Amino acid sequence: MKASTDPIVQQKQRAALEAVKHVQDGFIVGLGSGSTAALAVEALGQRMKNEKIKILGIPSSYQAFQLAVDCGIPITTLEEHPVIDVTIDGADQLTPELYLIKGGGAALAREKIVAASSKLNIIIADQNKKATYLGASNQFVPVEVIPFALAPVKRKLSELGAKPVVREAKGKLGPLITDNGNAVIDAYFGEIKNPAELAVKVKMIPGVVETGFFVGLTDIAYIGTDSGVEKITKPKF
Ligand code: 5RP
Repeated sequence: MKASTDPIVQQKQRAALEAVKHVQDGFIVGLGSGSTAALAVEALGQRMKNEKIKILGIPSSYQAFQLAVDCGIPITTLEEHPVIDVTIDGADQLTPELYLIKGGGAALAREKIVAASSKLNIIIADQNKKATYLGASNQFVPVEVIPFALAPVKRKLSELGAKPVVREAKGKLGPLITDNGNAVIDAYFGEIKNPAELAVKVKMIPGVVETGFFVGLTDIAYIGTDSGVEKITKPKF
């Protein structure tokens, strides 16, 4: 992990270093996507070298796959290991109840499959990701959609109160295409009062593959601060 003078990167690094302490020799590890999760993948590669521990990684995206290979983490699959010991991933927004929005990197579908297959889910983030409610600061909810269904899904999302925006690719004309060959609609709902209920309504729209709502999936969040790490654990309802 490279030393950084950027305070936000330092927060992400502190969170990542705390999270990788949960990984033990022989673990199957779900590898999240995004810039924060990437720091955990790097830290895991470092632990393998320094401590001679052996782990197998299950990447949640092509980005995570490439990085794992670069860091010397052997890859396995959900077919070979359907139960993951621990997954470490980032988030776009999280609340004190550990309600999350994910999918800023368009990896939401695989990230959710990996999270749902994990015995322990750890989220790592910097201070900017904290919010008192989902949808704060104009945060959108990514929705992965089969391209054939883009227009009807946009209409249904509008009926649910969202402003739907098809995410454009960078470096390619037209819509972004996910690792699964789908498109992404970024749905701007404003304040989301009941994420669990809205998540089900969006998921039920024909053509929706997955939503960026992660509700009830996260066990621990480590949020880097300027001097340490704040820990949030899943509330017992
Ligand atoms: C990718 C994700 C990322 O975890 C999320 O976008 C956070 O990314 P970053 O750590 O770069 O801010 O959900 O689909």
